[in-house]
Amino acid sequence: MNFEFTEEQLMIQQTARDFAEAEIAPTAIERDKEAKFPTEIVKKLGELGFMGMMVSPEYDGAGMDTVSYCLAMIEISKVDASVGVIMSVNNSLVCFGIEKWGSDYIKETYLKPLARGEKLGAFALSEPEAGSDATQQKTYAVKEGDYWVLNGIKNWTTNGQTADYYVVMAQTDPEKRHKGITAFLIEKGWEGFEHGAKEDKLGIRSSDTCSLMFTNVKVPEQNVIWEVGKGFNFAMNTLNGGRYGIASQALGIAEASLDASVKYSRQRKAFGTEIFNLQAIQFKLSDMAVKTEAAKLLTLQAASLKDAGKNYIKEASMAKLYASRVAVENALDAIQIHGGYGYVREYHVERFLRDAKITEIYEGTSEIQKLIIARELIR
Ligand code: CAA
Repeated sequence: MNFEFTEEQLMIQQTARDFAEAEIAPTAIERDKEAKFPTEIVKKLGELGFMGMMVSPEYDGAGMDTVSYCLAMIEISKVDASVGVIMSVNNSLVCFGIEKWGSDYIKETYLKPLARGEKLGAFALSEPEAGSDATQQKTYAVKEGDYWVLNGIKNWTTNGQTADYYVVMAQTDPEKRHKGITAFLIEKGWEGFEHGAKEDKLGIRSSDTCSLMFTNVKVPEQNVIWEVGKGFNFAMNTLNGGRYGIASQALGIAEASLDASVKYSRQRKAFGTEIFNLQAIQFKLSDMAVKTEAAKLLTLQAASLKDAGKNYIKEASMAKLYASRVAVENALDAIQIHGGYGYVREYHVERFLRDAKITEIYEGTSEIQKLIIARELIR
């Protein structure tokens, strides 16, 4: 593995860092408090090419590699993980899967505006009774002439209210279990398609998460994304691609927790010295730094394998499993180092903890990552 970033990767990292600090950081606390979706920021991310980073220029994407995408995700999530997940879902769970497996029609019609950042995407797999056990899809579609008629409910959909286009998995042949699931592209506004109220979440509060309800929604045949019956395969492979995105989001939080702690420990004085000079604090900071670096290596390894066209399933799950754990641990340590100040909004680190927790849950819980890693060990 090459440990040196290219000029282009460094430039993308710097662009993301500058944008994050200038345009996202100043309003992060306010958006979190008010659970306010960052509409203008997402628009500007689109203009920067950050909403379709890995999509090829043929489909109006920025044509960047996965390592660049991870570096940008880290910088954005460092200041606001809510913005990170909005960007991650559009890039990894929507654009990536569509470009790789979508039909020409789907790519021409939907991928281009998604990659340009003019439209926003969402990915709907989870259901009230199908979370980790994702093969148990109750949402179903029945073929009627040139249409599929879709019925069911999806849960926990990131960008659920705000998206324009939705990737929706549904059962089309229940007897075949996961081999009878199909992926559809659904547009906002189609008759019978409604969304629920925005969930009142612990963290990533400015991203919007909600349920989706489908009642006899007529879906044109051409809106089947890949082949009929390949929807589960599509979802699993898309999620493999999403996991280094969430690992990067978690890494952003882990790095931000470390940076805030170093900064604070050099300002705060106790026992006649900056608290940075106390071993109790130094040991914490060192552990945080080592874990962050290890998580970064795992994440960039997964990204590099993908860029090299190699299998990265195990590595992406390892990266997500570990980086999400480090995000939570670093955020907790950051609060401890900040003492009482860490417990109030003004110092950001309490938000880092609330934002970090979800990275151990969505796009496959930590327990599911362990299951995937174990299965890959004997493959
Ligand atoms: N990559 C590719 N294919 C995979 C895979 C992976 N990581 N994991 C499983 N599969 C394939 C299997 O090969 C199998 O396909 P074949 O029959 O063609 O070989 C098929 O999926 C079913 O696998 P199993 O028989 O092993 O099924 P299982 O029920 O024992 O396990 C599971 C499946 C891995 C647990 C799967 O259900 C899973 O990944 N669950 C977690 C779902 C998840 O991540 N949900 C997050 C939703 S997105 C989200 O978070 C919302 C958001 O907006 C951010």
